[in-house]
Amino acid sequence: MNEVSSLTSRGSPLGNPQDRPSTAQAVRTMFAAVAPRYDLANHVLSFGRDIAWRKATARALRETLARPGSLAVDVCCGTGDLALALLHHSAGKVVGTDFCRPMLERARTKGRRQRGGLLLLEGDTLALPFRDDSLDVVSVAFGFRNLARYAEGLREMRRVLKRGGSLAILEFSTVRWPLFGPLFRFYFHHILPRVGTWISGIPGPYQYLPDSVSRFPDQEELADALREAGFANVRYRNFTGGVAALHLAEKA
Ligand SMILES: C[S@@+](CC[C@H](N)C(=O)[O-])C[C@H]1O[C@@H](n2cnc3c(N)ncnc32)[C@H](O)[C@@H]1O
Repeated sequence: MNEVSSLTSRGSPLGNPQDRPSTAQAVRTMFAAVAPRYDLANHVLSFGRDIAWRKATARALRETLARPGSLAVDVCCGTGDLALALLHHSAGKVVGTDFCRPMLERARTKGRRQRGGLLLLEGDTLALPFRDDSLDVVSVAFGFRNLARYAEGLREMRRVLKRGGSLAILEFSTVRWPLFGPLFRFYFHHILPRVGTWISGIPGPYQYLPDSVSRFPDQEELADALREAGFANVRYRNFTGGVAALHLAEKA
């Protein structure tokens, strides 16, 4: 069994805390395989909504980003779309980090076209290469769900934030619109994996996506996890009826 298919056939790595090294390796391998078609698949499969969700996330952080000298880090940055959206509002620096080099290389190519200069670092979100209390903003889009241990991820993101600094987690969530819910679930579980496989040419990742989302905490559970991790002013907003949700919080 290869590493990508092991993520789908053994279930999500997130429920398997003893297995972190192989899990991290399997996630990295999976994203390396989809990197060349990752952006295209995202935009097609979300009907372009992912672009609006990331822009809204950056807008929600704009007050902090606009402070002179602000330092924002987008973790699990992948091909850099959220980091680039943050850069648009930033009066300081934006850094993107990810542990998958082929994804970072795509981000680097896109960053070169943008004024301002995006800094990119290869690094694990569970062991961030930043000092305690050093960042104004930490963001993560569609990456938190992939971490081997959520609590450890929240602890690490909180560690590097300054007091009063902002955390933003954009992630798939639970659809709340009554009629749209069953339609969306049919699409997500039956159509998206086929179209995703067709676009990417790789069978595993787009089956892993709905599997991992169905095991992911819903809006309230994630808000509770943030409070338990010591974050204050925790709130969230749904996008497209809850297909995705943006959780915002501050380090007290
Ligand atoms: C679904 S992609 C999201 C990419 C990007 N944030 C976006 O909005 O499209 C998830 C990314 O998280 C990265 N990732 C997953 N676990 C990670 C970890 N522990 N440390 C660093 N990056 C990680 C993967 O390599 C991948 O690039």
